[in-house]
Amino acid sequence: MQAIRNRQALTELVQQWRRLGETIAFVPTMGNLHAGHLALVKQAASLADRVVVSIFVNPTQFCPGEDFDNYPRTEQADAEKLAAENVDLLFLPMLAEMYPQPAMVSLTVGELANRYCGNSRPGHFDGVVTVVCKLFNMVQPDLAVFGEKDFQQLAIIRRMVADLNMPVQIIGAPLVRESDGLAMSSRNGYLTAEQRKLAPVLYQLLQRLRNEILDGREDWDDLLEQYRQHLNAAGFKTDYLAISRVDDLLQATPKDHDLVILAAACLGKTRLIDNLPFHR
Ligand code: PAJ
Repeated sequence: MQAIRNRQALTELVQQWRRLGETIAFVPTMGNLHAGHLALVKQAASLADRVVVSIFVNPTQFCPGEDFDNYPRTEQADAEKLAAENVDLLFLPMLAEMYPQPAMVSLTVGELANRYCGNSRPGHFDGVVTVVCKLFNMVQPDLAVFGEKDFQQLAIIRRMVADLNMPVQIIGAPLVRESDGLAMSSRNGYLTAEQRKLAPVLYQLLQRLRNEILDGREDWDDLLEQYRQHLNAAGFKTDYLAISRVDDLLQATPKDHDLVILAAACLGKTRLIDNLPFHR
């Protein structure tokens, strides 16, 4: 595995592969890699000749007051994990490499960013799509793998590629959990021992809610309110809890069948997100 910070060196390597007719799979990350990220890397390796992983903690997707400064940066450990996988190139751009000048042109996301995480984190998804677009232009991948952990992000990336005719195939990879059900996340490291013990309750409640829907409950507004209260009573501060349609993430009704429960809740200062797609 080669580790490269420089954009020019990245381009030269990518062009070399392209001349040989090799296909390229890309996994963008912000580092502090865990088994969820590595599952994406494994999937990428199974789908293309070459695998590129990027690590870049992107400042433009953090809102004022969020954890940009404290976001865990574990470059050495990350590089070792990736070297043990089938990764050809690790791209580690510095801030000045990604944003050499104040941007004059950037992407904005419409309606799909006004709900859920986008509603709680204004401008977040504009920062995400802009940096992902820049990375796509640098890496020029045939395909890119994103996790269903960030369900709304994946939906928005799919729309970006469709709406802007980007020649990249987007692959969604299943959410990877800890053995007690907690969704793996770089932010789990912020939890105190006590909060970490409580954290799996989020997924347990999503499963209970799904089961009530599968048992035939159709009073979804009441049900959601009840589960928001369960979450709060357990010690979380619920940000949102919603039953949505998988295809467009609009609010679902009992007429819909492909559903996803989307949730974000805080334990102390740590914001956890989770989701549970299912069919009824
Ligand atoms: P980051 O949070 O590092 O996540 C990188 C990729 O790993 C995303 O596609 C995310 O959905 C996936 N991922 C994280 N935890 C996962 C889990 N438990 N199971 C499966 N996949 C998981 O998402 C970002 O970075 C950034 O927004 C980025 C796309 C890199 C743009 O800056």
